[in-house]
Amino acid sequence: MRLIPTAWAVAILLLTSSTTQATSSPPHSQRLSPLKQITTASPSLLSIEYYEDGPADGEAVILVHGFPFSIDSYASVTPLLIDRGYRVIVSHLRGFGGTRFLHPNTPRSAEQAALGSDIIALMDALNIKNATCAGYDWGSVAVNSATALWPERCTRMVAANSYLVQNRSTAWVPSDPNTEATMWYYYLFLTPRGAAGLAQSPKEWTRTLWTKNSPNWNFTEEYLDLTTTALYNPDFVDIAVNFYRNRLLYAPGDPAFVDLADRLDSQPPITVPAVTLDPEESVVLKPADASASAKFFTGPRCHHRLPGIGENIPYEAPQAFANAIFQVHNLDNGDDECGAI
Ligand SMILES: *[C@@H]1O[C@H](CO)[C@@H](O)[C@H](O)[C@H]1NC(C)=O
Ligand SMILES: *[C@@H]1O[C@H](CO)[C@@H](O)[C@H](O)[C@H]1NC(C)=O
Ligand SMILES: *[C@@H]1O[C@H](CO)[C@@H](O)[C@H](O)[C@H]1NC(C)=O
Repeated sequence: MRLIPTAWAVAILLLTSSTTQATSSPPHSQRLSPLKQITTASPSLLSIEYYEDGPADGEAVILVHGFPFSIDSYASVTPLLIDRGYRVIVSHLRGFGGTRFLHPNTPRSAEQAALGSDIIALMDALNIKNATCAGYDWGSVAVNSATALWPERCTRMVAANSYLVQNRSTAWVPSDPNTEATMWYYYLFLTPRGAAGLAQSPKEWTRTLWTKNSPNWNFTEEYLDLTTTALYNPDFVDIAVNFYRNRLLYAPGDPAFVDLADRLDSQPPITVPAVTLDPEESVVLKPADASASAKFFTGPRCHHRLPGIGENIPYEAPQAFANAIFQVHNLDNGDDECGAI
């Protein structure tokens, strides 16, 4: 090992930190604010924290984040949509930010039916008849489920990784070992050790998951800190581990969702106009062509692969994410061209 003389080390440090200074505050390390709270009704009584902007009579767009992320992923997408006259709603998932369960006995379930129902419950509370439902990662699970079950409410969909609704009968079908290795945290979260680790250090867990799952994404420490604040939620750990435990059949669903959960097992197709996005630098959910998930789409659909982009698409490629929303709005206007976004 070669040791760097101290003076050199200091010089390098200064150089590095001045370079970091210049690039560590991209405009999209912004926090969405101010936030509002609204109480949603059945099946789970929640107080959902959300950001809203744009004209009240604009076409509604609901944006749903992933894990471990926050609504701030959408900080740069939101102004692009507002410029075009949309009414934009960005909400924290159950277990994130200021979203709270109002009843201590409500099961802390993150099953797909619950995440999808929360979108519809939020629309009900806000008196929104229909919307474009858009998401990535867990947000894709949420918008896929909501759109498959309530196509009259989510009348257009934008989703990363196309279609992530799970048929539980296939939960124990193994993947090849390299794929299983990328899913190490799914299995660790089945154990008390995994839950304790996440509770101990949400920030370092987030750093590790981002680094491993989007290896070419140079996120800033500032954005990591900003996101981590949304993970200090009393239900965060329960919700995070439940998502993986439920998908691997190690945690039962909430009985309140049993009918919806059964319907989702049949993997109902997306019948409304859809734009799907596969980030090429995502490790766990590997990019694919449209044909891989074609059977899940019976309406007009455009599919795009995004080179150089990892899991957090709205943060890494805000213009592409916004363009996907513009494109899905033209899909049922007789313009079914799937041009580059
Ligand atoms: C959405 O609701 C509006 C009224 O709020 C209605 O005019 C429009 O046709 C609906 N869109 C779809 C696709 O159902
Ligand atoms: C991220 O940083 C690495 C190493 O510093 C560099 O090689 C790479 O080009 C950067 N990627 C992007 C997308 O800026
Ligand atoms: C789920 O998948 C299994 C195995 O492929 C299949 O037999 C079953 O019919 C599917 N469930 C539903 C509800 O469609």
